[in-house]
Amino acid sequence: MTNPPIDYADVQGTILRGYRVDLARHFILSITDVAGARCLIGLMVSGAADVPQITSAARWKVKPKYFVNIGFTCAGLAALGLTPAQLATFDAGFQRGATNPKTAQIVGDVGESDPTTWVGGLSDGAAVHVVLSLWVSHDRIDLVEVTAELRAAFACCMNELSAHDAHALPANHIHFGFRDNIAQPTVMGAPPRKCSVPDHQPVVNTGEFLLGYTNAYGSTYSVQPLELSTNSSYSSFRILEQDVPGFERFLTTYAAQAKVDPEMLAAKICGRWRNGNPLELAPNAPGTVLPLSKLNDFTYVSQHTQEDDTLGLKCPIGSHIRRNNPRSAAVVGGTDSTHHRIVRRAMPYGPAYDSAHPDTNLRGLIGHFINGSITNQFEFLMSQWDNTSSFVKSAAASCGSGIGNAVFNISGQDVFLGVNDPSGSSFTLAGCSATGKDNTTITGFGRLITTRGGAYCFLPSITGLRYLASLASPTA
Ligand code: HEM
Repeated sequence: MTNPPIDYADVQGTILRGYRVDLARHFILSITDVAGARCLIGLMVSGAADVPQITSAARWKVKPKYFVNIGFTCAGLAALGLTPAQLATFDAGFQRGATNPKTAQIVGDVGESDPTTWVGGLSDGAAVHVVLSLWVSHDRIDLVEVTAELRAAFACCMNELSAHDAHALPANHIHFGFRDNIAQPTVMGAPPRKCSVPDHQPVVNTGEFLLGYTNAYGSTYSVQPLELSTNSSYSSFRILEQDVPGFERFLTTYAAQAKVDPEMLAAKICGRWRNGNPLELAPNAPGTVLPLSKLNDFTYVSQHTQEDDTLGLKCPIGSHIRRNNPRSAAVVGGTDSTHHRIVRRAMPYGPAYDSAHPDTNLRGLIGHFINGSITNQFEFLMSQWDNTSSFVKSAAASCGSGIGNAVFNISGQDVFLGVNDPSGSSFTLAGCSATGKDNTTITGFGRLITTRGGAYCFLPSITGLRYLASLASPTA
């Protein structure tokens, strides 16, 4: 089935475009006046000069001063007037919501990550209706000004439960010291990325990120009413606190145990060196940063013996990037990696950690993980590929079965995203032996990342926002 070209002006910008900004602020809002909220939504897509406008993915000639996008939780859509029958057509995970106990089990929000402990009003999923996200290039005055305009606009109809700031660290690095924002899916029909990092991975069907287009299964995600369907999407908004000194201690302790350099262990955990170079292309040392054209141009399984890393001897099968996108590697659960891609729009919060001057500031990563199906993409990644090690298919290296099989070379859960408990956690560095007996496995570590908040959002198209604005209250 051929998809029509995407009408970028009808799509919320953050779905298809990375804004390449330094500052973000996410407002968590609860609707207090439904008619007022509908009116505000309408104003935000009306072109009105006195209210900040929702940013679409339409091409701009001059980079805007700010970018605003809006997501609604299931409770938010219900508050705006969608009926239970209509909401029943939405993604199953979205209907459940982020604070639902079943969701928490699926994505590993348990223990210290339990939704009941979440900050900023996010623990009360029924009260969280809107996540309004603002991005500005780098000017704090713009952030203050647009914040004031937004607050003036929503004050009469929404209660601000909290606001959460994020800011870029130098050179696209995130806490733990890794360079981020290298690998993103190439979405069929999407605008070309400005700072694109090309790769040879399959282009992902538009329907994996936008409702109303063919997805990777050859079908189409859609919702009722149809005005809300085409060009809309979903996101999992997350506040993920990172224990930076804990990660450095982890590296020191376990590098000594595994008899590798701490920087090598950091790279093995992630799949990339902290400078961004992938282990597949720089297996022994970080080296100088590869050019953009090379940085993401690799895969894991190849018929060419030189390039093949079926066994994870270079990049562990359990590393963060390989679990979240196994590329050409065969998997048992899930069709293949093209069915579970995700667009990441997250930035660090909290100051950079300086080990010479330790502090107790809170720091982590905050933002939206975007997909056409929360169930098949975000929740699938978190529950299957990040939190199990049984998804790897039996496979020998292209040079033969004598040096191992992929299934022996992974254990435990993602060190970053797994529900790691010292009593059962483990991470495998593969060695060369038929049954994995020469592997090195580190065990006994806890979680380094804790969920501090989350919300499942529906990101309506501009048409969808106009539809929500036009809803009338049911007559008594
Ligand atoms: C604080 C939490 C997190 C940290 C520290 C982290 C760190 C990283 C780093 C350093 C990279 C490599 C940079 C790149 O390839 O662009 C990466 C890639 C990636 N991460 Fe995360 N991440 C976090 C949360 C998540 C979450 C919640 C998901 C979604 C379930 C996720 C999915 C991915 C994916 C899909 C990639 C790209 C893999 C590829 O295509 O090769 N990450 N992450």
